[in-house]
Amino acid sequence: MENVRLIEIPKIVDEQGRGKLSFIEKDIIPFIIERVYYLYDVPSDAYRGGHAHKELHQFLIALSGSFEVVLDDGKSRQRIMLNKPNIGLLIPTGIWREIDNFSSGSVCLVLASMVYDEDDYIRDYEAFKLLKST
Ligand code: TYD
Repeated sequence: MENVRLIEIPKIVDEQGRGKLSFIEKDIIPFIIERVYYLYDVPSDAYRGGHAHKELHQFLIALSGSFEVVLDDGKSRQRIMLNKPNIGLLIPTGIWREIDNFSSGSVCLVLASMVYDEDDYIRDYEAFKLLKST
């Protein structure tokens, strides 16, 4: 799917067995971060997202546990599982997304290119399809 991609985040494994450290610097993702938010305490049968954005770019990371992201560009759909804290999913503008199958205790960290703006959301799937077909 165009411009949707998984990006590897650097991982430092401590040589004394004290765990792992990952970091995100500005050259890893192709936008300036203006907002960070996270989803947590999500019940396993819940579904989040269900919208597209007009301008917003996002980068999703399963900081803990796992969840699945359904991506739809108006032509095709794909489902991607995120389950590693050092692999992030880049979702550019104009992609419908749904997030489900959250594992117990999972945390979805989202880095976003804009502050929250409800006007940037497309929350109606038919309106999204129409927009993509024109
Ligand atoms: P929404 O984006 O619909 O959540 P999701 O896509 O994860 O299902 O947002 C849920 C509510 O939270 C909605 O009332 C808007 C509010 N919200 C903010 O105030 N700031 C934010 O940065 C985000 C992402 C949501």
